[in-house]
Amino acid sequence: MRTAPTTEILGPGEATVGEAARCLAAGGLVAFPTETVYGLGADATNPAAIARLYQAKGRPLFNPLISHVADLAQARRIGRFDAQATALAEAFWPGPLTLALPKTAHCEVAELATAGLDTVAIRVPAHRVAQAILRAFGKPVVAPSANLSGHVSPTTAAHVMSDLAGRIDLIVDGGPVEVGVESSIVGCFETPMLLRPGGLPREEIERVLGCKLTQPPADAGDDDGQPLAPGMLVSHYAPRSMVRLNAERIEAGEALLAFGAAAVPGADKAAAVLNLSASGDLNEAAANLFGYLRALDTKQAKGIAVVPVPAHGLGEAINDRLRRAAAARE
Ligand code: TXA
Ligand code: MG
Repeated sequence: MRTAPTTEILGPGEATVGEAARCLAAGGLVAFPTETVYGLGADATNPAAIARLYQAKGRPLFNPLISHVADLAQARRIGRFDAQATALAEAFWPGPLTLALPKTAHCEVAELATAGLDTVAIRVPAHRVAQAILRAFGKPVVAPSANLSGHVSPTTAAHVMSDLAGRIDLIVDGGPVEVGVESSIVGCFETPMLLRPGGLPREEIERVLGCKLTQPPADAGDDDGQPLAPGMLVSHYAPRSMVRLNAERIEAGEALLAFGAAAVPGADKAAAVLNLSASGDLNEAAANLFGYLRALDTKQAKGIAVVPVPAHGLGEAINDRLRRAAAARE
């Protein structure tokens, strides 16, 4: 049994890329940077490796994984692309977009990774290190965010280490990520559907499609049955502290997660203050979001109060993650 591995952390050089590919081929678990968040990779064709991955994260088995490949040609081996999916892939890959598509007849991704669905979620990440590992490995790599299930997603190698040390084999440290929220997921069904808002703004996706994205049904986040985006659990991305949204003033002892230049009443009595973007830049805010939630979580505050964040562009994904961070826990 391969329990309790020693987790090694390596810089992103060529030797590391080879080491990562060998580790994946041997059924190992390798955390690596993508431009959105750090992913925890396993060989998508190896059910034993995937089972270990679910176990390392404490992830429920009904929540399927995204298969990462190096380019569209590799993606076509596992997913069936219609005209709209092709247009999206050509416009945005490599990049922060995942497409959920019908599997091909000869799709090599293990059933365990797709949780028994007849669709597969595919992403071509842009990050140089992710690209190098995928090319060296040559097969699809399933990679959920490299955090314990339900916790805040990791945007640095140190975040991965703090959640998963002793549970995975290797962490490739490529520095802090650029985008900071996970990929947008589009279901390429009869009418394309935004299953998860993410690092590619809805507006850009709709511009290429020439139509509006539909919304998943309101119950798509329930964890019973077989929802469309099974991983969109209501409570997710959660720090340990309670999170209070749309705060207009700060209670004494709360930590403040601010946005923009406006003064927040009570901020002088806050246990700690971090500003997602003092200049009101939503891209900067997305890049800071998960790291700041983790940092404020260490401040022994009464809770984390978050000021309103605009909903356009990356603001849709930021607000989605904040709502899940604030949702009541079981
Ligand atoms: O940016 C990202 O997407 C990161 C990096 C590492 O690539 N990955 C990531 O994976 O966020 P994860 O496992 O944390 O989220 C994957 C989401 C889950 O909500 C899951 O339910 C959904 O993708 N998903 C996977 N396969 C699906 C499918 N066939 N249909 C619909 N949703 C699917
Ligand atoms: Mg995740």
